[in-house]
Amino acid sequence: MAECFPTVGIIGAGTMGAGIAQVAATAGWTVELMDVDEATVRAAIDGVHRRLDRLVEKDHLTAEQRDKTADRLRAATGPDSFTSSRLVIEAVVEDLDAKVNALLSVIHALSNDTIIATNTSSLSISRLGQAIGQGRRTVGMHFFNPAPLMKLVEIVRGDETDPAVIDDAARIASDWGKTAVRAKDTPGFIVNRVARPFYLEAWRIVQDGYAPVDEIDCIMRDFGGFRMGPFELTDLIGQDVNAATTHSLWEQLDRPSRLKPSRLQIDLVERGDLGRKTNRGAYSYEGEEPIPAVAFDRRPLVASKKLQDVIRMFIDGATRQSGSELEQYVFARILAAIINEAGWAHRDGVASESDIDIAMKLGTNYLKGPFEWAEQISGPRVAALLAALNETVDDDRFSPAESRR
Ligand SMILES: NC(=O)c1ccc[n+]([C@@H]2O[C@H](COP(=O)([O-])OP(=O)(O)OC[C@H]3O[C@@H](n4cnc5c(N)ncnc54)[C@H](O)[C@@H]3O)[C@@H](O)[C@H]2O)c1
Repeated sequence: MAECFPTVGIIGAGTMGAGIAQVAATAGWTVELMDVDEATVRAAIDGVHRRLDRLVEKDHLTAEQRDKTADRLRAATGPDSFTSSRLVIEAVVEDLDAKVNALLSVIHALSNDTIIATNTSSLSISRLGQAIGQGRRTVGMHFFNPAPLMKLVEIVRGDETDPAVIDDAARIASDWGKTAVRAKDTPGFIVNRVARPFYLEAWRIVQDGYAPVDEIDCIMRDFGGFRMGPFELTDLIGQDVNAATTHSLWEQLDRPSRLKPSRLQIDLVERGDLGRKTNRGAYSYEGEEPIPAVAFDRRPLVASKKLQDVIRMFIDGATRQSGSELEQYVFARILAAIINEAGWAHRDGVASESDIDIAMKLGTNYLKGPFEWAEQISGPRVAALLAALNETVDDDRFSPAESRR
């Protein structure tokens, strides 16, 4: 019997467009893939074929499944290829004008009920929907990289998005094997916002002279249970990409001290030390083993008796591991800042507590969601640590979310 799965049109056949195409085709959808030229689309489809071959080699896919999946991937010949699309996802470069132009070029070919989704990481869904005159059916479907492996999709509602469109987009994401969380159209949505303190507080600890990059990475991994430390992770992401996201969020959220970009990270970027891609970032990768490459002037950690006490209480709730005073301090300070940013995001109506927890576990591989952590540690202990940390800084950045307005 003929298969009758729907068609998705994908505009932009780069890293994300190709990854999403693989996800949709694997789930049985026909994919029409479009880019600025045919060669780019062909290269993307060839890349997906190679990934499917590897899955067959590893016995994750049968040869028959690979062949059927590969057959569902098509190079769009023009906007008319999208005529029967149930959904169109744009995954072109992160620039509003480029996205508007790409979508305007195909809208005339779409049926009236085609959902228009954008994979933007940082642009406003509402602005994009308005700019193309399609606010009601424009929605964010924010996949994570690599799309075939990452389970999470943030479904982002613009000011005018029809609730039925949001439900449909969430249903499609789950039909494609993903976990959908719902987020309001706010800077960074959930994951890119709540993860900021993981990087920023780590940079500030280096700046304070309490621990160098390799020690902090080690503490967050081995003591804190994070998959990677903040510096090895930002070297992988690209220090420039990570710093640009921080800067954009900080500006868009009216420059809160919590999210203020790190001078140390900006210096790295200005020097061209962007991470693994330039062989040097927070670490140097020129030798066999990565070597810390951020100048560091150690100062002894001097914590008041009160701060030591609240850290101990916080750590007792957070982990069964026993650690040195420095390990406890670094982990508690970074985790408290993450929990607090989650609190701010929730207070700003970005998402429910449970969706924030799911998003952070699936989008960043955190062991627990920030609210799960807060509950395990206990709200009063988290609040006591934030208050004590706030007394040690002059920018009020640990001020807890609940205490304002
Ligand atoms: N790379 C990531 O980690 C990641 C993660 C989540 C979301 N995103 C978002 O996904 C989107 C795409 O990112 P990417 O990393 O895949 O970028 P990319 O540079 O790998 O691919 C972008 C593609 O869009 C094509 N393109 C540009 N203008 C076009 C047009 N008018 N019509 C058709 N194709 C056009 C380019 O030729 C290119 O192939 C961005 O909005 C980005 O913010 C990226």
